[in-house]
Amino acid sequence: MVHAEDLKRRAAAAALEYVTDGMRVGLGTGSTARHFVELLAEKVYAGLKVICVPTSEQTLAQAVELGVPIATLDEVGELDLCVDGADEVGPGLALVKGGGGALLREKIVARAAKEMVVIADSTKKVGVLGRFPLPIEIVDFGAVSIARSLEEAIRSAGCVGELRPRRDRDGHPFITDHGHVLLDAHLGRIPDPAALASAISEVPGVVEHGLFIGLASRAVLAGAEGIVVLDR
Ligand code: A5P
Repeated sequence: MVHAEDLKRRAAAAALEYVTDGMRVGLGTGSTARHFVELLAEKVYAGLKVICVPTSEQTLAQAVELGVPIATLDEVGELDLCVDGADEVGPGLALVKGGGGALLREKIVARAAKEMVVIADSTKKVGVLGRFPLPIEIVDFGAVSIARSLEEAIRSAGCVGELRPRRDRDGHPFITDHGHVLLDAHLGRIPDPAALASAISEVPGVVEHGLFIGLASRAVLAGAEGIVVLDR
């Protein structure tokens, strides 16, 4: 059996093919994106010229450590490419992201890129999104009231399930890079991701959610039988 880390690395290596000299590249967050940054750093060391925008403090630290050239999104403006992992890849390349808590910057960076390529092991591909809890980033003012409104919004979009506050390893509320808190919506299935996305976005206090719809243009999925590339 091929180890999941090997599959993630294979997907990352395959996506490296899309990076060419002079590109402005968004760097994702998570264990798969971590492989991509490592492999990209080797190319940079060998002479590839890129300028990268990381989607989290974690990825920023890794890129700096490995000597990958970094800029802010405002410095580069538009990006040519963004390469990031996902928690689920559904029909039409709709994604659930944010398992690592970086969904806000990830979505801003994905939106600023001409192309978003998702890298993942093939187990992330699903017929219906929702088995992975959907992260929702909210402000901490009135969190109980926001959660109540979110429950109504979730029901209105035809989903059932419960919201749980994300905790860090020490059991404290998980705080994002931007100082917000995260709720995870345990839904099981999301029959209409677009309806859920707009219902959630309408709740005051929601900063962002982990449904990425219409953003990914390509998914590079690695399985035991090889690489599969899906285009939207
Ligand atoms: C980070 O916030 C997430 O969106 C990640 O991209 C996602 O959780 C995938 O992570 P892994 O590559 O570690 O599975």
